[in-house]
Amino acid sequence: MNTPKRYLITSALPYANGPKHIGHLAGAYLPADIYVRYLRAQKKDVVYVCGSDEHGAAITIQAMKENSTPLAIVDKYHAMLKSNMADLGISFDIYHRTSSPIHHETAQEFFTALNDKGELEIKETEQYYDEDAKTFLADRYIIGTCPVCANENAYGDQCEKCGTSLSPEQLLNPRSTLSGNAPVKKATTHWYLPLNKHEDFLRKWILEDHAADWKANVVGQCKGWIEAGLQPRAVTRDLDWGVAVPGAPGKVLYVWFDAPIGYISATKQWALDNDKDWKPYWEDKDTKLVHFIGKDNIVFHCIIFPVMLKLHGNILPDNVPSNEFMNLEGDKMSTSRGWSIEMDDYINDFVKKENGGDMMVDALRYYLTAIAPETKDSEFTWKGFQDALNSELVAVFGNFVNRTFVLMHKLCKGKVPPLHVELLDNTDKQLLEEIQLTKIKIQNSIESYKFRDALSEVIDLARKGNKYMQEKEPWIVAKQTGDDGQPTAAAQQKIDNCLHICLQLTANLAIYINPFLPFTAKKMIYMMKVVDKMLDWENAGKSKLLSTGYSLRAPELLFRKLEDAEITAQIEKLKTKSSTLKKATSMETTTDTNNQS
Ligand code: MF3
Ligand code: ZN
Repeated sequence: MNTPKRYLITSALPYANGPKHIGHLAGAYLPADIYVRYLRAQKKDVVYVCGSDEHGAAITIQAMKENSTPLAIVDKYHAMLKSNMADLGISFDIYHRTSSPIHHETAQEFFTALNDKGELEIKETEQYYDEDAKTFLADRYIIGTCPVCANENAYGDQCEKCGTSLSPEQLLNPRSTLSGNAPVKKATTHWYLPLNKHEDFLRKWILEDHAADWKANVVGQCKGWIEAGLQPRAVTRDLDWGVAVPGAPGKVLYVWFDAPIGYISATKQWALDNDKDWKPYWEDKDTKLVHFIGKDNIVFHCIIFPVMLKLHGNILPDNVPSNEFMNLEGDKMSTSRGWSIEMDDYINDFVKKENGGDMMVDALRYYLTAIAPETKDSEFTWKGFQDALNSELVAVFGNFVNRTFVLMHKLCKGKVPPLHVELLDNTDKQLLEEIQLTKIKIQNSIESYKFRDALSEVIDLARKGNKYMQEKEPWIVAKQTGDDGQPTAAAQQKIDNCLHICLQLTANLAIYINPFLPFTAKKMIYMMKVVDKMLDWENAGKSKLLSTGYSLRAPELLFRKLEDAEITAQIEKLKTKSSTLKKATSMETTTDTNNQS
């Protein structure tokens, strides 16, 4: 698209049915946050929305498990998710919730608009029913064997193992999640979204218009669904928890119909809170809409929701960057199986600790971005985390900044030394050029959603800084002293040039690292005694960010090392948690094998 006038960025609304793990964070939240922080640094008009997904069987089933009510469940986990995200520096403009009245109204209006236009079909069909529980079985209320990958615990609406979107009729050996019984059939009436009528639109929009700029895994999955033949999809359910279908007592909207409308209702609430107009963000073609999601959400964001948006007269997403899954220590990450690192646990174990704080938030953000499952599944290991932290953040980035500050205090009286332009040699010039080039490289990577690459450019630049300093050896040059024991004038000029350049590089590193590790950038700003505005992207690449003669603060520790004992303790904790859960759930009739659950 041409230069957008504004951006609306979304992260998938997490179900408020339990704590979320760092695989979720790496999939849909952290990359979006990096993208948004980058856009904000460019002074773009950008709104970043998210919120809790509070409807659907994910919630009601959790309420049964906890012997609680759906309302109590969403209140509890909404609060947890909201504070976890804030603690991890995910900078939503609003973290909303789908139980709010404004969301219910928005979703109902949306449904009514489509229905009034005649875009929905009403059909009576026979559906699976649990006679003991007196409940129709759809979505997570029914499980069975996936006809595609043979996963025995596929849900009625989707197999989360292979990602296939399903209807309950497609499940082999279906059984009720509520009672474990084989279901019977019973007649009921529902509204359907006839996706089959929109095949031509989807083919052109995805397989032609976006074949090149969307990720290959996303286009590939969409192609599979389109080729398999699109079917009308029920958008209502016989349940009592959800958004009521106007004029149809006992029926609610399908959670995957109402939840993405949550992006719109969140934007409305944000606009109300900030005295803004929400409409251009959803109606003006000059808005760039980007949905960040995990791979199990592709069909909903690329097929179903776009059809809804088109019928309703809204803009369509420009891109739907979706990540693959992040595994953990050799196995799939799963909260229900206890094989996961919950955001809440990480925060308690590392961030809210004396030797932790924001530094440990950035450490996690660093590793998760460095191993982001952008094109294929990736794996978190505690050892890998330790290595990345100790040998990249501490030894390369932190070390460069620290050395620069220490030497500047020791050899330049704590002030930015002058640059003697006539003395610049090729090594100096090369580094100055690298500082500029890095800007372009990072821009290109971030704008094509390659956050791993972008981040490694930042570390590479710091590495070049270390190499430069190693070559220049200002601490050795300082030994060329005159009669007064001070470095000679010629020696001091060399020292000045080296540290002047290293300090300008440090200022640039703060700008470059800011979208990824915002707390680190803040600390660097403080050390350099400059205002936040220095982090504006337009300053990147410049070599006059810190003025000569300006005095700077003492260096602060940017990162700390992770000790062996800490990672051993975490691995132990993981094993204990999963084996305890295994014992506890071996009695249950159902198992949840969702690999990112
Ligand atoms: N709650 C869903 C999940 O966790 C994601 C919903 S995304 C939205 O998989 F688009 F519906 F909001
Ligand atoms: Zn499957």
